[in-house]
Amino acid sequence: MRILITGGAGYIGSHVLKALGKQGHDITIVDNLSTGFAKAITYGNLIVADLADRVKIESIFEAGKFDAVVHFAGSIVVPDSVTQPLFYYQNNTINSHFVLSMCDKFKIKYFIFSSTAAVYGMPESGVCHEDSELLPINPYGQSKLMTEHMLRDLAFANKGFKYIALRYFNVSGADPEGQIGQSFPKATHLIKAACEAATSKRTHMDLFGTDYPTKDGTCVRDYIHVSDLADAHVKALQFLEKGGESQPLNCGYGHGFSVKEVISRVKEITGVNFKVNELGRRAGDSASLTAESSRLSKLTGWKPKNDDLNIIIQSAYEWEKNRPY
Ligand code: UFG
Repeated sequence: MRILITGGAGYIGSHVLKALGKQGHDITIVDNLSTGFAKAITYGNLIVADLADRVKIESIFEAGKFDAVVHFAGSIVVPDSVTQPLFYYQNNTINSHFVLSMCDKFKIKYFIFSSTAAVYGMPESGVCHEDSELLPINPYGQSKLMTEHMLRDLAFANKGFKYIALRYFNVSGADPEGQIGQSFPKATHLIKAACEAATSKRTHMDLFGTDYPTKDGTCVRDYIHVSDLADAHVKALQFLEKGGESQPLNCGYGHGFSVKEVISRVKEITGVNFKVNELGRRAGDSASLTAESSRLSKLTGWKPKNDDLNIIIQSAYEWEKNRPY
């Protein structure tokens, strides 16, 4: 297939690029390198461009004759979305609208969208099913949900366009071959922050909120290894190619760990007793989010290989120690 990946130089995009590249697809990557790295490009042809540059992006679509688009480019930091909501709607929703208009115009057949568990908001049981109520509690989740709505409506109107919106849970870890990993500047994600503390890249880490209604008072998340997530994209695309129906699908392991559990596991694995400051709650955080992911496995044959917090942390730590970029 001829595939366009937006945001393919970023953390998740680069792992999906590698997985699709290994399958032999002809890939073009568009990335503005705001949080991505040219060194993360292991396959295909990188074009440095911003989705807001409508003329350039349209010319890329025109020349590319793509069969599929995998759309990552966007902003992902929940607390930032609370303080800069319009930036999130611009970058995530309005730019996605433009990408979809290009897909419609240039008759793209398949679309994989990087959506998020944040579309669920604050589910009472903490367990999210694809059919659960969608009540995002932060602009990040809302901005992604609006794109899901556009996808649903476009697929209804244009029968030649099919999509899967993968609702990611907490993606972490790094490529087992050590070639790519997470190098997001000023990273805010838990496992990344803990590994930075363990490698003395920061003096300490903060723990946000100890009064949540969870087992130990800290938030619970479903941590999924980025290589398993990448494989879910490969499977989702194959599913659409075989005639599968457009829909959102959860992508997580179905069990959660609290922030305290993750931090103590990172300390155990790295052998470093870094300093942790317990602070108040961070804006936009849900108490508990875990996935019901059986639909993804049943429909696409996705079988996670790294459903083990130790493997996730170990790979993130190895990356942090040896980072080439
Ligand atoms: N946390 C800390 N200290 C840190 C970093 C995080 O205590 O230094 C806590 C957060 O407050 C939260 C938990 O760890 O309770 C997880 O936070 P992350 O920032 O790692 O991840 P989020 O859950 O906020 O968001 C991530 C993705 C979203 C996705 C969501 C789904 O960034 O795209 O997981 O669960 F929607």
